[in-house]
Amino acid sequence: MSTELILIREQILSCTKCDLAQTRSHAIFGEGNLHEKIMIIGEAPGRDEDLQGRPFVGKSGQLLDKILAACGFTRDEHVFITNIVKCRPPNNRVPSPHEATTCMPYLLKQIELINPKIIILLGATALKHMAGQEHRITRERGNWIDLNGRLAIPVFHPAALLRNPALKRPTWEDFKKIVFKYRQLVDPNHKSDYV
Ligand code: URA
Ligand code: URA
Repeated sequence: MSTELILIREQILSCTKCDLAQTRSHAIFGEGNLHEKIMIIGEAPGRDEDLQGRPFVGKSGQLLDKILAACGFTRDEHVFITNIVKCRPPNNRVPSPHEATTCMPYLLKQIELINPKIIILLGATALKHMAGQEHRITRERGNWIDLNGRLAIPVFHPAALLRNPALKRPTWEDFKKIVFKYRQLVDPNHKSDYV
């Protein structure tokens, strides 16, 4: 990891800029590949994540890993996974605008330093905080958007898929687009059993 990323990680792990610091067990930097591939941005750590200090390890994370596996993607090789907010909001409530704004400089620095070719915005919270509050996940998911010159695609959050399995099929269509784009931009020989 570059010294700049190590510094950001240390700042995140010891951050006390908002009240979430008082109730968290672990602040979560994120994990995965740090080299200009795919960055996945979720909402905030939940209970399992807070206890383990890793992103997306609960039910949503297990579903996310299945989708990634079907795309031929792994956390080690293809994606870096992090969140809008690095600490768990009590009872998994949606992060407040103040919490999201306070935490945003960390994410912007991560994006700058990792320089992903593709950004996946996982769910409404990631879409709204990255692209603007007027954006709507149900209308815009599966469409490529420009985030200050970077290529991004909003998709449904895996928690939404768990609540409403009918969203799984459109989400798979969205991830197929991501695999095609990955072949164009990162690795033309990328292998996936299903795409
Ligand atoms: N949901 C999220 O948005 N992020 C996590 O890390 C876990 C669940
Ligand atoms: N609502 C959300 O918050 N996220 C989704 O992905 C879909 C509906």
